[in-house]
Amino acid sequence: MPTIPIIAPERLPALLAAMPKAELHIHIEGSLEPEMIFALARRNGVDLPYANVEALRRAYAFTDLQSFLDIYYAGASVLLKEQDFYDMASAYLARAAMDNVVHAEIFFDPQTHTARGVAIDTVIQGLHRACVDARAELGISASLILSFLRHLSEEDAFATLEQALPWMDKFIGVGLDSSELGHPPEKFARVFARCRELGLHVVAHAGEEGPPAYIWGALDVLKAERIDHGVQAVHDAALMRRLAEERIPLTVCPLSNLKLCVFPSLAAHNLPALLEAGLVATVNSDDPAYFGGYINANFIQTFAALPILTARHAWQLAHNSFEASFAPQAEKRAWGDRLQACFEHHASA
Ligand code: ADE
Ligand code: ZN
Repeated sequence: MPTIPIIAPERLPALLAAMPKAELHIHIEGSLEPEMIFALARRNGVDLPYANVEALRRAYAFTDLQSFLDIYYAGASVLLKEQDFYDMASAYLARAAMDNVVHAEIFFDPQTHTARGVAIDTVIQGLHRACVDARAELGISASLILSFLRHLSEEDAFATLEQALPWMDKFIGVGLDSSELGHPPEKFARVFARCRELGLHVVAHAGEEGPPAYIWGALDVLKAERIDHGVQAVHDAALMRRLAEERIPLTVCPLSNLKLCVFPSLAAHNLPALLEAGLVATVNSDDPAYFGGYINANFIQTFAALPILTARHAWQLAHNSFEASFAPQAEKRAWGDRLQACFEHHASA
């Protein structure tokens, strides 16, 4: 770690907001704000089982992952046309740029849309066009990661991969999301092997609600390069050593964990323990429209709740986000330089 300038504690929130960072765990369907859900429902003539924006927001009282997923899939039902996917991703990227996100690796769930008769071409073209335009207009770099729904079969994942093959130049990797418990990584061994043969990056949600065994499975069977969430790793000392030694990043999402009752409070979150153990942990927003905050809110609220976290940890988390990304080394170095300059700018006189 380079010399980190001394930062007065009262300047920490401004520093957390201003520091350049990469977002590596964002489901684009989870960035659909209630206002946009209603606007798209009107535009597309889709009926929603909620009277208005306020009624929908009131339904965002989750008790676990599944209680959230049920509402999240209902919200995504308003997405029908390429322009809808474009508008959703453009709104997220503009919001992320405001939080000084310089690079985003964005999950999308094609099966949520193809199951409703939306062609995968529509999904990928809309999202990709938003990424291209955001780079030109906002200077933010963005890539897509196709995520398989683990509550569906491996056969369905293979069919989705087949449909996506003509668009291989428009996404950089694959992930695994949706209901974790009862759907271990091993269920997707063959389709992930095929994705690796195709040269795609592979990541997987594991250890959000599921046991450490699911993280072992994601590493040993799927050969995941990053673990999404992974917070349950703390219950397995050998796994913690493995993650630290192999520098397998964890994309941690504190506000998500709070809202889905993975931890009783942010003060009880294990992010400090993960960093203390030398893991390449990062901070991300997961589904910001549903969990009450984008990436800077995740940083600021988590640091406020855990005073043990200091400017050193902030630097480490931003640096980890660049290291953990699938961006070229030259870009990682340039972002690292911007990070250092930002810290010097915020240093106490
Ligand atoms: N899909 C969207 N958000 C998710 C999460 N937190 N876990 C699993 N699947 C998801
Ligand atoms: Zn997620």
